[in-house]
Amino acid sequence: MSASKKRDSWGSRLGIIMAVAGSAIGLGNFLRFPAKAASNGGGAFLIPYFVALLLLGIPLMWIEWTLGRFGGGFEHGTAPGIFHSLWRKNRFIKYFGIIGIFGPLIIFIYYTYIESWTLAYSFFALFGKYSALADQASMQSFLRAFQGIEKNQYFQSIGWAYLFFLVTFTVNIWVIYYGIRGGIERLCKWAMPVLFICGIALMIRVFTLGAPDPARPQWNVINGLGFLWNPDFSALKSAKVWLEAAGQIFFTLSVGIGVILTYASYLSKGNDVVLSGLTASSTNEFTEVILGGSIIIPAAFIFFGPADIKSIAQSGVFNLGFVTMPLILNRLPLDALFGFIWFFLLFLAGITSAVSLAQPAVAFLEDEFDIKRGKAVLIFGITTFILCQPVIFFLKNGVVDELDFWGGTFFLVLFAAIETILFAWVFGMEKAWDEIHKGADMRVPRIYKFIIKYVTPLFLFVILGVWLWQEWLSVIFMKAVAPQNHIYIIATRIGLFSIFIILAILVKIAWRKKKQKTGL
Ligand code: PFF
Repeated sequence: MSASKKRDSWGSRLGIIMAVAGSAIGLGNFLRFPAKAASNGGGAFLIPYFVALLLLGIPLMWIEWTLGRFGGGFEHGTAPGIFHSLWRKNRFIKYFGIIGIFGPLIIFIYYTYIESWTLAYSFFALFGKYSALADQASMQSFLRAFQGIEKNQYFQSIGWAYLFFLVTFTVNIWVIYYGIRGGIERLCKWAMPVLFICGIALMIRVFTLGAPDPARPQWNVINGLGFLWNPDFSALKSAKVWLEAAGQIFFTLSVGIGVILTYASYLSKGNDVVLSGLTASSTNEFTEVILGGSIIIPAAFIFFGPADIKSIAQSGVFNLGFVTMPLILNRLPLDALFGFIWFFLLFLAGITSAVSLAQPAVAFLEDEFDIKRGKAVLIFGITTFILCQPVIFFLKNGVVDELDFWGGTFFLVLFAAIETILFAWVFGMEKAWDEIHKGADMRVPRIYKFIIKYVTPLFLFVILGVWLWQEWLSVIFMKAVAPQNHIYIIATRIGLFSIFIILAILVKIAWRKKKQKTGL
C-alpha cells in the first residue's frame, strides 16, 4: 500500500463494539440457537455451550481481535497478509489465510438472500399479505411459493423474492461502499439499539401471553420456558450434542472465519482489545440466551402444545422463523405490528452480519492490490451478485445447505485451529500475551495462557477428528442428499473449489507485485 493512502478506521470504541456485536448477533441468535437448544437436551445444552464459550469462543475472540490489530499495523486487513506478518519465513502460510476471505464470501452469498426474505416478510406482515393464513400447511405453501419452489394462489413466480433480493443486496453494498466508519459503524450504531428494543418488546409480548386457551391452562409461558430449559442430562453423553454446541458458539460469535480479524485491523495500536472483545461477546450471549431463548420456542409451545413442539423445534430454522412464528403472531392482537417487529428484528440482525461478511474480500482488494474502495466494492458487488444467482434459483436443490456446511461449519473449525496454532505456537505465547495486553483496560485471567496454548487447540483438533471419523464419508459421498440433487451439489463443490483457486492466484499475484515494488 502506498504511504500516502490511509486505511479507514473506527470512529469510536463504542462503534467497533457495536459493529462486532452486530456481526455476532444475527439470524443465528434468534433462530439457530433456540432450535439447537430445544433439540439437543434443552437446559443441559447450556453446559457444552458454555464450556465451548469459555474454551473456544472467548479465546478465539481475543486471538482474532489481537491478530487483527497486529495485522492492521502492517496495513493488512485479511488473513493472508496477517499470517504472513506473523510468520515471515514461511512462504506458504499466506495461502492458509485464504480461508479467511473465502469463508465469509461463501456465507455472504446465501446469508444475503435469507436476509432479503426477512425484509420481504416485514412488508408482508405490515400489509397483511399472510394474515389470513392459519395453519402450518398454508403458511408453508406461502413460503414455498415465495421462494419460487412451487406455484400457487399466493405467488406465481419468484418475482417478489427477486425484487426484495435486489433491494437488500443494493442496501448491503451501499453500506459497505461508505466504509468502516461512514457505513458499517454508522449503521450498527442505530441498528443495534433498535434491534434490542424489538427483541425486548417481543420477549415481553411472549411473557405476557399467559395461557391464551382457557381449555388448556397448561399450555402457558412457564411450561414453554420449561420445555426449552428443563435439562435432559442424558443428552450430554452424545458427541453430536458437544459438536453442535461448539458449532453454535463459532457461528454465533462470528469467530473462526476471518471477519473479526478484518474488523480489528481498523483499530490503532493502543486500542484495548481485551475488554472490548469481552463486551461484544457478552452482548451477543445476552441476546442469544436471554432474548433468543425467550421468544420463538416458548411462544410455539403456548400455541401448539407439548405434543407438537418437538417436531416444530426440529423442523429447521426456516420453518421456525418463516412459518411457525408468523402463524403465532397472526393469532395475537396487533398481529401486523408484531409480525413487522419480528421480521424487522431479523432484518437488522441479518444486515449487520452481512456487511461484516463482505468486508474481508473488500479489504483484501484494497490492502493487497491498492484498489480504491469504490472500485473494490464494485468488483465485490458484481462478483457476489453473480454468485448469488445459483443460490436463488437452485434453493430447492440443496445449494444453501452445501454452502453452509463448507463456509459456515467445516472451514470455521479448520481456520480457527490454524489461527490458534499460529498465535500460540508460532508467534509464541509470551509474545502473544504481551500483544493481547497492549493498551488493555483489564488483564486476561492467567489461566487463559494455558487455555489458549493447550486447551483451545486440543479442543479444536478433537472436534475436527471426531467429525472426520463420524461424518467424513457420508458428507463426501452425499449420503444425506437426494439422488436427483447430486449434480447440483457436485456443481456447487466445483464452484467452491474454483473460487478458492482464484483467491490463491490473486494472493500469488499480490505478493509478486509487492516483491517487485519493494525490490526484495
Ligand atoms: N454470527 C452470525 C449469526 O449469529 O447469525 C452469523 C455470522 C456472521 C457468522 C458473520 C459468521 C460471520 F463471519
